[in-house]
Amino acid sequence: MSIAGAEFVRPVPVDPQALALCAVGVHKSFRERESGEHQWRRVDAVSGIDLAVPRGEILGILGPNGSGKSTLIRILATLLVPDRGSVEVFGYDIGRHRLLVRRLINRVSVEASFFKKLTAEENLAYATGLYGVPNRQAQAMAREILERLGMPAKKLRVPLEQLSRGQQQKVAIARALLTSPTLMLLDEPTTGLDPKSRREVQQFILDVRQRHDATIVICTHDMDEAERLCDRVAIINRGRFEAVGPPQELKARHGATMEAVFFTLIGESTAEER
Ligand SMILES: Nc1ncnc2c1ncn2[C@@H]1O[C@H](COP(=O)(O)OP(=O)(O)O)[C@@H](O)[C@H]1O
Ligand SMILES: [Mg+2]
Repeated sequence: MSIAGAEFVRPVPVDPQALALCAVGVHKSFRERESGEHQWRRVDAVSGIDLAVPRGEILGILGPNGSGKSTLIRILATLLVPDRGSVEVFGYDIGRHRLLVRRLINRVSVEASFFKKLTAEENLAYATGLYGVPNRQAQAMAREILERLGMPAKKLRVPLEQLSRGQQQKVAIARALLTSPTLMLLDEPTTGLDPKSRREVQQFILDVRQRHDATIVICTHDMDEAERLCDRVAIINRGRFEAVGPPQELKARHGATMEAVFFTLIGESTAEER
């Protein structure tokens, strides 16, 4: 193996005291074409987000469609460069240490991207190849993680397209566990799942947090999910956090249920009506 390759395999050294995530003053705007016109206008997708997530926390992000959740997640995942502001993952600046940070984070989006004709095992092996974990070790780890988290072993050897969406989400989350410590960025992992699969994926996320050294940021539209899973919830509207706190605290302050909290803070209008 080349020296560069060997360098890549070594685990990323992380200060145990470091925050899993620290974002300060993050802004991102896009140019959007006015409908049917040759005019462009700027849309402030994320406008001034500050966020500190300690290691081991599950932080929920709740907000209407178009409020900036996915943009924020994509910035944190180093897939988009913010216009302004800074982000550190386990103490590493995402701009200056992009490749290193990519080994500490994993993003799972609504449509997990896989090679659907390949099996879960093969997909996990491919992903770990990218992350520099030697293949045989990775295969064993993948199998162990999925079995421990309740995926039947025989399911690992059929093409992914033959698994239910809930099972595919579990494989995606397991894939995110192959690097450690890890900051998992879950963008609506349960949207579109039936209630049973949703419950299973939620339980999976809780198990993952308990058994692995994982910190989780999860976007969701599901109020019960936010309350059940999250230590703290951030309510986002028009690219800004309206409030951040434990569900109990938000309810004590803004409404009897999470849904009431949501409507108190967001109002009835949605960002998409801008
Ligand atoms: N690549 C892009 N180009 C132009 N506008 C974008 C792009 N991505 C997101 N936006 C706009 O940014 C805003 C926030 O979008 P997004 O982060 O996807 O919201 P959410 O995930 O909360 O639904 C929306 O107004 C959306 O249209
Ligand atoms: Mg989104």
